[in-house]
Amino acid sequence: LYKTQAPRVLPTILLVGPSGGGKTSLLTLFATGHPSQTQTSQSPQSAICQTPSSTSTSSDRYRSENDTSARDQPTFTLLDTPGHGKLRHHALSSLNSTSALKGLIFVLDSAAVSSAANLTEAAEYLHDILLLLQKRHTGAKTSKNAQPIPVLIAANKQDVFTSLPAGLIKQRLEAEITKVRATRSKGLMDSGVGMEGDVGGGSEDAEWLGEFGSAAFGFEQMRECDVEVSVVGGNVRGEGGKGGKVEGWWEWVGGVV
Ligand code: GTP
Ligand code: MG
Repeated sequence: LYKTQAPRVLPTILLVGPSGGGKTSLLTLFATGHPSQTQTSQSPQSAICQTPSSTSTSSDRYRSENDTSARDQPTFTLLDTPGHGKLRHHALSSLNSTSALKGLIFVLDSAAVSSAANLTEAAEYLHDILLLLQKRHTGAKTSKNAQPIPVLIAANKQDVFTSLPAGLIKQRLEAEITKVRATRSKGLMDSGVGMEGDVGGGSEDAEWLGEFGSAAFGFEQMRECDVEVSVVGGNVRGEGGKGGKVEGWWEWVGGVV
């Protein structure tokens, strides 16, 4: 008599990035429509969100222009993780354990990355995340794990006057990841991993992010393993308590869920 619907796992988007970038603020904004006061996160938390009706979604491609029926805006789970260096295992393990993972948002403070130390920290974290996605793709035994995982780098806090624009942040991150990649590979060689005659050789290029042996890293090198990286500016909080500017991020979400 009653039809029971099979429980559907909602598509999940994972929030990652250095501490203070604005992940939890973005979570509350996406879930409730306004950002609330946050404290540095100590554990992951999730919220169910729905794309606003102004956002076009991937299913709109199949919709007739003359179709005036109400649109069904997609719902998804947003999973926030703590950015503190000692708590990043939460993000890294969620990356491998989350079913229905559709994409990743790497949130960073666009003003903070003008300091060399903060830029290095962000680039190291991003390098490790991208390398995990690359390994997930190369090691995929089932087509489920081989699904493309797009990454949005949300260049947050564009309202702060010392913030760098998204284009510049992209360049600086690529240049810094080039350095991180070289340092990591030197570390591996010094420790003897990937040396000739090593059991299970070839580990050296498995640990290398992007095109093996390339002089400079570029995000387009991630396409090889179905990871499309976009860098889009915005701000969760607006000037003088006004609402923020997050349309560009919603557009990205609409294309992913
Ligand atoms: P962790 O939990 O430590 O990983 O940090 P987080 O990424 O969750 O950062 P959180 O959302 O707690 O934000 C850190 C601080 O930045 C808070 O004081 C926010 O109010 C502030 N903030 C977030 N987004 C913006 C923004 O767009 N502009 C400005 N000016 N401040 C922002
Ligand atoms: Mg937080």
